[in-house]
Amino acid sequence: MIVLVLVVLGTLSVIGFFWHFGSPEYTDTGYQPVQPVDYSHKLHAGELGMDCRYCHTGVEISPVAAVPPVQTCMNCHTLIKLSSDKLKLVRDSWTNKTPLEWVRVHKIPDYAYFDHSAHITAQVGCESCHGNVREMEVIRQVKPLSMGWCLDCHRAPEKYLRPASEITTMNYKAPSNQLEFAAKLIKEKNIKPPTTCSGCHR
Ligand code: HEC
Ligand code: HEC
Ligand code: HEC
Ligand code: HEC
Ligand code: HEC
Repeated sequence: MIVLVLVVLGTLSVIGFFWHFGSPEYTDTGYQPVQPVDYSHKLHAGELGMDCRYCHTGVEISPVAAVPPVQTCMNCHTLIKLSSDKLKLVRDSWTNKTPLEWVRVHKIPDYAYFDHSAHITAQVGCESCHGNVREMEVIRQVKPLSMGWCLDCHRAPEKYLRPASEITTMNYKAPSNQLEFAAKLIKEKNIKPPTTCSGCHR
């Protein structure tokens, strides 16, 4: 895999100019596809104050955060807004036992490895990578998710670590003793984000 990656890198450096401007830093930020259902994070996670983990159940325990099955919606929507047109697809999906086809927003290529649980355990908040989701009517990608972006944090993660209780907080303000707090946490948890190729290209 590493050999393959190095070959690709060599080829790409020849067309470096195009590579640079074709990279996701310039293409993916701001990506906001239309979803099949008018589901709003601003309403559910913002105004109603629901915890991200109620729906994204994998985020602390597995590589994938997981988008909830329609059953999670029906925990409430068998009672709330029962006859709303906006929920028609949700009800149909429930009755017909066919999954809702949400459009994927954040995606890194298969040759790079990402794991949510490792980041949540190290106490990096959702906000650092997804922005203020509680204010998004429709989900939008706000970070480039490029290799350079991953590495910027991996080389100096101390600005981004928070108390475990603040993982899903938005508009989090780092305390004045942030660097002290982070240094202690890094030592305690032995936090060492990979910066070598094989750390992310396995
Ligand atoms: C009631 C369930 C629910 C809650 C609560 C919820 N989400 Fe979501 N989330 C969804 C659904 C459904 C989707 C897929 C549709 C979409 O993208 O809007 C989604 C999509 C996402 C995506 C984009 C996934 C992709 O395709 O890349 C992110 C990021 C996300 N949620 C983060 C959060 C964060 C952060 C919170 C807490 C502040 C949160 N969600 C709370 C249901 C929920
Ligand atoms: C914890 C309860 C709860 C869960 C779980 C939940 N919702 Fe909601 N949802 C609500 C409430 C409360 C409202 C607002 C109702 C109102 O405006 O009076 C709402 C409103 C909506 C609306 C707008 C309906 C309208 O006519 O304005 C949509 C669409 C919706 N939810 C989709 C979803 C989807 C899709 C899921 C699953 C991913 C989901 N909801 C999960 C409680 C929930
Ligand atoms: C360190 C950065 C980072 C953090 C922190 C992070 N995410 Fe993500 N998230 C990503 C990346 C990168 C992807 C795309 C992963 C891929 O393509 O394999 C993603 C994808 C997702 C997806 C869609 C794919 C999936 O895994 O199901 C959801 C939903 C999501 N994130 C929710 C969350 C929630 C909720 C939190 C906080 C509890 C969170 N993320 C924290 C970087 C992050
Ligand atoms: C905001 C900071 C931040 C960003 C952005 C970030 N990471 Fe990390 N990453 C970390 C921290 C902190 C750890 C935990 C290291 C530890 O516990 O030793 C980590 C660990 C990892 C690990 C090791 C996980 C394991 O199970 O060994 C991989 C792989 C990884 N990150 C990939 C990525 C990729 C790919 C991206 C970009 C798409 C990314 N990260 C973006 C902070 C970040
Ligand atoms: C922290 C995680 C991480 C590390 C460490 C890392 N990469 Fe990457 N790499 C990524 C991600 C994520 C992408 C995909 C970015 C994108 O979508 O363009 C990527 C993409 C690439 C690409 C495709 C070209 C591009 O940028 O789109 C090559 C080639 C590459 N990496 C080589 C390497 C080499 C060689 C090393 C070691 C010197 C390395 N990577 C270390 C995460 C990492």
